Amino acid sequence: MKGVVFNLLEEAVTREFGPDTWDDLVDDANASGAYSSLGNYDDEEIVQLVATAATTLKITNAEVLRWFGERAMPILRERYGALFEGHTSSRDFILSVNRIIHPEVRKLYAGASCPFFHFREGEAGSVMMGYESSRRMCDLAHGFVKGASNLYCEEVVITHHTCMNHGADRCLMEIRWTH
Ligand code: HEM
Repeated sequence: MKGVVFNLLEEAVTREFGPDTWDDLVDDANASGAYSSLGNYDDEEIVQLVATAATTLKITNAEVLRWFGERAMPILRERYGALFEGHTSSRDFILSVNRIIHPEVRKLYAGASCPFFHFREGEAGSVMMGYESSRRMCDLAHGFVKGASNLYCEEVVITHHTCMNHGADRCLMEIRWTH
């Protein structure tokens, strides 16, 4: 996983809980805590940070990843405003992930292995989002989608119809806009 993702996690934790909490988390997770945005680090290290945060907060790993994704979005907008400016709705923004966002990420961070999403129209204006990655981080995607909807002052309900973390071959999430 690219260092930039660890940098985002540090920023999200520090903004909400302060720098000491980040230091404690790094210590408790036996992580290095020093990540250069362009560097590549073992996926196991982020898994360990997430699991340690989950134990400390007495919530699930999935909840930590969703929290992280949601909090990461405003930080990403501060850093990569151009990716957000061209869109007037979170639907538009989310649907640009394969075509624009992740290709740009690959240019900025050589060697980044970003997931590809399968999109199709769902019922009543919803979007069905298929996800398949050996990292099984559908909950991070869930948090990103939630965070994106917040940025466009919209509300979404995300339902996981199938999930790689529950034995399925791939994840299928439904995104329904309620406001
Ligand atoms: C709704 C929009 C987005 C979704 C659903 C999404 C989803 C994801 C997920 C789930 C991963 C984890 C890797 C995996 O599953 O294999 C990931 C990786 C990543 N994403 Fe996105 N993402 C979104 C937008 C963005 C934006 C706006 C940026 C930054 C400008 C970004 C940058 C990255 C980076 C740097 C990685 C790590 C790749 C690596 O470590 O090799 N993503 N994305």
